[in-house]
Amino acid sequence: AAALPEGYKLRALEKRDYNDGFLDCLRVLTTVGDFSQEKYDAQFDKLKAQESYYIVVIEDPSRVAEGKKPIVATGALIIEHKFIHSLGAVGHIEDIAVAKDQQGKKLGLRLIHALDFVAEKVGCYKSILDCSEANEGFYVKCGFRRAGLQMAHYY
Ligand code: ACO
Repeated sequence: AAALPEGYKLRALEKRDYNDGFLDCLRVLTTVGDFSQEKYDAQFDKLKAQESYYIVVIEDPSRVAEGKKPIVATGALIIEHKFIHSLGAVGHIEDIAVAKDQQGKKLGLRLIHALDFVAEKVGCYKSILDCSEANEGFYVKCGFRRAGLQMAHYY
């Protein structure tokens, strides 16, 4: 697997990351909204209690000296437990985002490989995700292939 750039670290999201660039990474993807640390903490605790959320971040601690936030990429894996396939489990890869000025450094690839590794380790028989046509090439490079069709019902 591709190595991370020197000094970069891939680790689990922590509660203290509210102000560390995690939410700014997600803003590359879609609207995040504004909410307090307290609300972030409550959501963090809720996801943690479910024991099926793995949210990872990549940080570059050297950015702090430049007055920038350390987190430059994030991604999530949610484990769905099933009755089919002998009580099998499926990994859902969600909310993959790399800060604009950090794209093209293989951080996305590293995120997917890390989440894929966890999914296989915890016994998933497959991992799936939804993406735009524009991102298909990226996921093919990560070892995924086109399968199925997404349907949505927005409320
Ligand atoms: N189309 C085709 N190939 C691509 C694309 C693309 N859109 N993006 C990257 N690649 C290729 C790279 O060229 C590289 O190829 P190489 O190994 O031959 O050099 C390989 O894929 C790995 O690229 P990375 O450097 O790891 O890509 P990056 O770190 O920039 O992450 C990502 C890609 C996650 C799509 C990033 O650009 C991003 O955050 N985009 C905005 C948010 C977004 O669209 N997120 C995905 C939403 S889908 C979801 O969350 C399930």
